[in-house]
Parts: sequence; structure tokens; C-alpha cells
Amino acid sequence: MKQTIIMKLLAGVAGLGIALGAVSAHASPEKDRQELIKYYTDKYPDIKVEDYVYGALAFDADSKAQYEAIMEFPPYDSEIDKGRKMWETPFKNGKTYANCLPNGGQHIAGNYPLFDEAKGKVVTLHDAINDCRTANGEAAYKVNDMKTMGLLTAYMRTLSDGMMMNIKVETPKAMAAYEDGKKTFFSRKGQLNFACASCHVQNAGLRLRSELISPAVGHAVHWPVFRGGDTLVTLQQRYQGCFKQVRAVPPPQGGTTMNNLEYFHSALSNGLPLKASVFRK
Ligand code: HEC
Repeated sequence: MKQTIIMKLLAGVAGLGIALGAVSAHASPEKDRQELIKYYTDKYPDIKVEDYVYGALAFDADSKAQYEAIMEFPPYDSEIDKGRKMWETPFKNGKTYANCLPNGGQHIAGNYPLFDEAKGKVVTLHDAINDCRTANGEAAYKVNDMKTMGLLTAYMRTLSDGMMMNIKVETPKAMAAYEDGKKTFFSRKGQLNFACASCHVQNAGLRLRSELISPAVGHAVHWPVFRGGDTLVTLQQRYQGCFKQVRAVPPPQGGTTMNNLEYFHSALSNGLPLKASVFRK
């Protein structure tokens, strides 16, 4: 990363206290979400909150037009089809995912991650799929394996397209997990000493090298994505990439830190519609 860019970003980060202060400790998740939206909309009054689901594309009409053209005939349709076949293939005991996930697996992705009181922890949709597999005598998939969990969810999540994100944080334990995720989001880390918020709050809408930076609200609704045409990337895979950008060692995918981060980060998109398997640069 060029020195000038780092300086420019750090200059922006000086103001991060404002955004951090706005998202105050132990505020309700809804209040956090509203305060972040206010932060973005005060800065960019012309961009509609509904358009945050397009991420950085919301800030660049040309890229958004390209995205729409690609989305008419996504070049990765055959990959999603592999996921459909995985979804439809019965387990050895004859049961299917649809038999064991709530509502047959339809219109449920927006409820995840959820806080499972009995387990005392956050359960992601990947975890729910693995619970379904193990309950039916199948081995769990590795959550960071794009050829199994990635492809399966590239199809499975499309069954929830149009559902509104609906993350619930209702009990003290759930709140503690949410707060832990929030702490990860706002903590500076890595050799560059950046927090997720340094880029996706403070510098949202600005350019880092050739890339426009997206706002955190709207981030969680469209996973997995296909980058550059056919490279499947899940949400936690993307988190890992961002940790590496600041030269921090990423926490393991599927571990408590990542799952709590996904819980907090997903709640920021509450009320926005899901659309899985979209194109990204
Ligand atoms: C140094 C700046 C920087 C930091 C710090 C950073 N990111 Fe990113 N992030 C980017 C850039 C650049 C992109 C690609 C452009 C875009 O979509 O915003 C990106 C993309 C993303 C995306 C995909 C957006 C989409 O619609 O495809 C997510 C999700 C994300 N980051 C989450 C995080 C999280 C969570 C953290 C903290 C662990 C984080 N980022 C830290 C710069 C950063």
C-alpha cells in the first residue's frame, strides 16, 4: 500500500471517534444501526439506504450498470447449479436438508446468525447446515471449504432471496455475543492499525487504491459472492481477506470471534432484502 494512501486513510481515522462515539457501548442493536445509517446519510444524502445492498457499487453509477448487465446472465450460474444438486441429493439415510432445516430451508437465511440459548452461542447458517448433516449421520463440512459449504450455500441462500434480514438480539447472553462482535468491528488491528470501521464507516464512499469502499450497512445480505466471474467467496472468507489487508492475522473461520463478528455485522443490515450469489469485482 502506498504511503500517501495510508496517510490519507489515517487522517480520516482521526474522525473515527465521532463514529465510534455515536455507536455507543451497550446501545441497542437497532440504535446502533440507526446511528450508523445517520452517519452515512448525513455524509451522502443522495444515496438511498436501499442501495447500500450494492456495497461500493452504490457510489459509482458506471460500475453499478456493469453489475446489472452481468447479473442478467451471471457467468457462474453453473456453479450455483452444482450447489442445487448438492442441496437436492439425499443423505445416505434418505433424508434431505429440507427435512431438517426450519421451513424446509426456504426464507430462513435472514434469521442467521442467531443466538442459540441452549448452546449458549451464535449459530451461523453454516453451523445449522452442519448440525443438519451430523444429525443425519453425515460428516460436517469445513466452513471454509468453498467446494462444499461454499457451493451448497451459493444455491441454498438463493432460497431466501427477497427475505428481509432479521437478526434478533434478545437476551443478555445474546447481547454479550453482539457486543463482542461489535468490539471486533471497532478494534484497530494489524500492522496498519485499522479497524473494520476505519474503512467501512469512516472511509465508506472513498477510494482505497482503485477501490471504492462500501458502507457496513448492507454488507451482510448478498453472500456468497462470485468475484471476477467465478471465484466463490463467503462472508467470513471476505472478513479474512480484510483482516489480511491490514496485515492482521485473521481469526479462524467458524470460531467464536468470527461468528460474533458476523452476528453484529449482520444485524447492521436488518430490514434490507437478501439476494445471494451476486457478482463482485
Ligand atoms: C484498509 C481498509 C479495510 C479494512 C480495515 C477492512 N476492509 Fe473490508 N473491504 C475493503 C475494501 C477495499 C473492500 C472491497 C471494496 C468494497 O466492497 O468495499 C472491502 C470489502 C469488504 C466486504 C465486501 C463488500 C461487498 O459488498 O462485497 C465486507 C463484507 C467487508 N469488507 C468487511 C470487513 C470487515 C468485517 C472488516 C474488519 C475485520 C473489514 N472489512 C476491514 C477495505 C477494508
